[in-house]
Amino acid sequence: IVQPSVFLKLQSGKLTGDQVLKSQKKLKDLEGVFQDEQIRAALPQESLIYEVQAFMPIAEGKSGGLFFGNSTIYPGKIGAEYHMTRGHFHSNLDTGEYYWGVKGEGILIMMDEDRNVWAEEMSEGSVHYIPGKVAHRVANVGEELLVFNACWPSDAGHDYATIAEKGFAARLVEVDGEPKLVDS
Ligand code: PA5
Ligand code: NI
Repeated sequence: IVQPSVFLKLQSGKLTGDQVLKSQKKLKDLEGVFQDEQIRAALPQESLIYEVQAFMPIAEGKSGGLFFGNSTIYPGKIGAEYHMTRGHFHSNLDTGEYYWGVKGEGILIMMDEDRNVWAEEMSEGSVHYIPGKVAHRVANVGEELLVFNACWPSDAGHDYATIAEKGFAARLVEVDGEPKLVDS
């Protein structure tokens, strides 16, 4: 009987343990992601927009395994558009993923290969099934941190290039104080 090497802090959604990988996305790393690139470029580039933790017990790309992650998005907007993740399809396109809300107020934006876009509200305990062949991105629409966890297949991979080239067909912007999906 041994101790697990990774713990999930249930209150915060954070992972702890030596095997947990961490990455951060600052404004300087998100060129071209937001609609208003001029505003993004003019804001302090060291501002932290989101951070990701991942527990990847087997090599990425190998089939048969599962990865586990935590994402935290800081509140704020770039112009009218909420802070959000870059978003991606999976490289191994037909692989799904679970997201679930831990704290804060978010919106999960999804887009299929025909560029149909839809979205689900994310909050503490909300469970989100992301089907295969569906791009996904999360926006923080609240005033607090948005924290969610994720579980995805070890051979899913991340295709960021398709979104970098073509974007999502709709963006989440604040209109009259409320989040609204607007065609882009
Ligand atoms: O596996 C996932 O889909 C998540 O862990 C995301 O990678 C995370 O939320 C960060 O978003 P992105 O990878 O689009 O920058
Ligand atoms: Ni994913």
